[in-house]
Amino acid sequence: MAGKGIHIEGLSKRYGEGDTAVLALKDVNMHVAPGEVVGLIGPSGSGKSTLLKCLGAVIDPTAGRMVLGDEVIFDGGWKVRDLRALRRDKIGFVFQAPYLIPFLDVTDNVALLPMLAGMPNDEARTRALELLTALDVQHRAKAMPSQLSGGEQQRVAIARGLVNRPPVILADEPTAPLDSVRAMAVIRILNDMAQRFQTAVIVVTHDEKIIPTFKRIYHIRDGITHEEVGEGRRFD
Ligand SMILES: Nc1ncnc2c1ncn2[C@@H]1O[C@H](COP(=O)(O)OP(=O)(O)OP(=O)(O)O)[C@@H](O)[C@H]1O
Ligand SMILES: [Mg+2]
Repeated sequence: MAGKGIHIEGLSKRYGEGDTAVLALKDVNMHVAPGEVVGLIGPSGSGKSTLLKCLGAVIDPTAGRMVLGDEVIFDGGWKVRDLRALRRDKIGFVFQAPYLIPFLDVTDNVALLPMLAGMPNDEARTRALELLTALDVQHRAKAMPSQLSGGEQQRVAIARGLVNRPPVILADEPTAPLDSVRAMAVIRILNDMAQRFQTAVIVVTHDEKIIPTFKRIYHIRDGITHEEVGEGRRFD
């Protein structure tokens, strides 16, 4: 399906009830075109992870509307029957903590999703190795997650988030544990993916090195988004 990217209107999220309730998102409006990589920036506690979790169908929004591609996924309530299938087929996640599967080696951590989607094992492993190579961690392909450094684990988690070529990628601080050369490599890969597969990408970041690479940036403060034109400086 030719995607129209990501569309969010009037999204709100309240955690809890009564006196202890937290209104984490108030009126979030956002649009990411297919092939676009946007930055999402804001202070700690401003609602960045909450927004990605709502969009990724990990938590339930309280109100508003979300469209992925041609599909209205949320409009006051979920409009999709199978949220697991939505997460598996449409959304690539790169979380702050890598959450690798401890008993699978690096290659199979990355190859697992395409295998589950029915791709032959050899082909899935080949695709995994291509991404691991692009992320400069191919020499650890046979290692177990516990044998990797934090930055290596993060790069494997990024490969896993991209391997199914989902139409939407949600990345929460993807470059935090990486040096500047590798952080730029990650941004380059996200931009390449966006262009090659018309992926819509949202990157939450505090990373001063990568902020100038975004053409468009959303600032979030107290649960409300504001849009800004970024520098879109070249990153290679
Ligand atoms: N499960 C939860 N229950 C209650 N409140 C929560 C929950 N998760 C987050 N919050 C609150 O919602 C607000 C937004 O949190 P969120 O994690 O989205 O912030 P963030 O912008 O990602 O911050 P950081 O930069 O520190 O990762 C914060 O006030 C936080 O305390
Ligand atoms: Mg967060």
